[in-house]
Amino acid sequence: MTEKKMIVAGMALVAGLSAFTASAQVRLKGEGNIDEVISAMTVEEKVHMVLGTGMAGPDATFPGTAGSTYPIERLGIPAVYLADGPHQLWMNSRREFDSKTYYTTEYPTSLTLSATWNRELASKMGKGLGEEVRDYGLDVLLAPGLNLVRNPLGGRAHEYFSEDPVLGGKMAAAYVNGLQSTGAGACIKHFVANNQETNRTGNDAQVSERALRELYLKSFEIAVKEAQPWTLMTSYGIVNGTYTPESHFLCTEVLRDEWGYDGVVMSDWNAGKDAVASMKAGNNMMQPGQERQYKAILAAVKNGELSEDILDANVREVLRLVCRSLTFNGREITNAPDLKAHAADARVIGGEGAVLLQNDGVLPFAPSVKNVALYGIASYDIISGGMGFGGVNISPFTVSLVEGLRNGGYNVDKTVQKAYSAHIQAETRRIFPHGKPPFSLVPLQRPDELVLAAEPLAAAAGQNDVAIITLGRKMGEASDLMSRQFNLTEGERKMIEAVSEAYHAAGKKVVVILNLSCALETASWKGQADAVLCAFQGGEQIGNSITDVLSGKVNPSGKLPVTFAVNYGDAPADKNFPHDIEPVMDFSALFGMKENQEKKDPVRNVDYTVYEESIYVGYRYFDTFGKEVSFPFGFGLSYTTFGYEIISSAIDGDRCELKVKVTNTGKVAGKDVVQLYVSAPKGKLEKPTKELKAFGKTALLAPGESEVLTIGWNVMDMASFNEKTSAWELAKGTYQWHVCSSSAKVEATATQKIAKERTM
Ligand code: BGC
Repeated sequence: MTEKKMIVAGMALVAGLSAFTASAQVRLKGEGNIDEVISAMTVEEKVHMVLGTGMAGPDATFPGTAGSTYPIERLGIPAVYLADGPHQLWMNSRREFDSKTYYTTEYPTSLTLSATWNRELASKMGKGLGEEVRDYGLDVLLAPGLNLVRNPLGGRAHEYFSEDPVLGGKMAAAYVNGLQSTGAGACIKHFVANNQETNRTGNDAQVSERALRELYLKSFEIAVKEAQPWTLMTSYGIVNGTYTPESHFLCTEVLRDEWGYDGVVMSDWNAGKDAVASMKAGNNMMQPGQERQYKAILAAVKNGELSEDILDANVREVLRLVCRSLTFNGREITNAPDLKAHAADARVIGGEGAVLLQNDGVLPFAPSVKNVALYGIASYDIISGGMGFGGVNISPFTVSLVEGLRNGGYNVDKTVQKAYSAHIQAETRRIFPHGKPPFSLVPLQRPDELVLAAEPLAAAAGQNDVAIITLGRKMGEASDLMSRQFNLTEGERKMIEAVSEAYHAAGKKVVVILNLSCALETASWKGQADAVLCAFQGGEQIGNSITDVLSGKVNPSGKLPVTFAVNYGDAPADKNFPHDIEPVMDFSALFGMKENQEKKDPVRNVDYTVYEESIYVGYRYFDTFGKEVSFPFGFGLSYTTFGYEIISSAIDGDRCELKVKVTNTGKVAGKDVVQLYVSAPKGKLEKPTKELKAFGKTALLAPGESEVLTIGWNVMDMASFNEKTSAWELAKGTYQWHVCSSSAKVEATATQKIAKERTM
């Protein structure tokens, strides 16, 4: 049993098969006889169907997985198995009385994936995960996470894609399409505005409908329309006063009526307060299912508060999921996914998701670079991903930075390595005098930085060709980072200073690697580094992926999926975020097992958070208000250069299309991302200076080679939501279509006229 399950074991729903009725011959055959099966169910069975099997559910079959739907044997309804993602299929690697290990691949984080801006890679990652779900006998991966990265300290930012809904939505859609191509189902989550982890089961996100529609809902809308995920998970939180699973507006009006969503809506684990309200809202299934929910729904049907038709409608959706599932349709459980191939894909994604932020020419390393010295705790304790219910999957492939560099043919200075090993051991003893806790949700305290004295630094600088410093930040579910973690520690500052001084004095270069969950303060120290490579968190192949970029085997083509601000506090969202609140771990509150009491004096940013910035999140703010950033959204350097020429631009009915010729004008092969931003004419509604509407990525272009990218989007994608009229409005006038290499760099512009205002 995983720790999470132990935590909630007391809440487990004892699922017993209830009354057998006379219609025992009826069996679920497929979507065609769902209504017949529903008619043959007792009310009790129907209530069971809209709940999972409790935390203890799939444990015996698939230890470590998250839950399942409720099986009813007499009606031929099997359990459909749900397991966590988004970066790895979460399942215990060991099972009782079984000598086999059930390894799963740890892919890069979603934010790293997003930094590739490469939909093919997103599809590949989804496909690899889906194959593991399929081959290990499961049905649905509870992934991907799709909330907007509103703030760099958000505890689950690494599980999400971007501060921009178009980048996030398109990458997620590709991931879902890849995943579902294997026969497994996806689950986009946590719908919606789940932008902080502090008091996640009681926080009310107070957000304008315009911001909700244009930003927070938008990424889900894109994923729903472009990929039709089989399932969607509502969040733990409250949006504008209503728990998301209890919101008819969100679960039915927006999702189904407006977007045409066609799958199951399920709650997050133990989320929501009122199961009956959730049934009415169109949240079809409560996971993992609690006894109190069972009793409440049953009583409500019996006393007429909940019509049986509504219950039936929810049951119908769950049964449709069952009919789609691999378990229902039969598949061979091979227990042998191609982990080697998936590891190779993870390596490519990690390399392509690395963003080169600064480079004076030291990268790629010249052939003469052979000896490297590594500094910084994270160089020896690299962070492959975020925290969560970790520790159950040990990947056989995890490649450290030291190993990666050695695999790449570099000698890693052993004296420096020894000093760090001793330091890390001593620090670990100091921080955990009674041994490391076996499980933690909050990222564990990491060792303080080691600042080596001038003498050993000078000696190492004499013997090595280059210094590599790694700075790391880890985050995880259920807590947010604090603003001080956006900044460097005193130790990190001193280390950068001391290492740079020693190496520069010896005429050697210093490369800083950022091993991050999200953005970090870079403005104050980047001038001391000769190159800065943001590798984010590249999963089990991280050491190889970073080395591929350092050595030039991979020419970096990653672009930032989030802005790197100069200071925490520069973005207007920063002040409306629990950035100075120490995380408190109250497990029953975290997992919604405790009723939230109405508070007399609600605390700002804990009990409620006002999204005062409205639509001005990320670059939409910095760009519009001319505020300086350290590295803008969409930014990333290459070892080559590119030229851009707009070949054509047109609006044909509802479709906008731009063709751009991208030419590799440099000396080495490389890929490039074209970002298409639109500046709208002045209309009734105030708009950001420009907004990303579409993007494309070239193939690997040889020096001198060109590729024409066709970039398309819908004309109404350029509209804004008018709260007064409750409609999307496209102002008439001249639109500028900017071909950009980042949100701050326009390379070429086309103009197009919209003659008549349009609404939708
Ligand atoms: C998380 C979900 C996850 C679920 C099942 C919850 O605590 O918020 O993302 O899918 O647990 O493990």
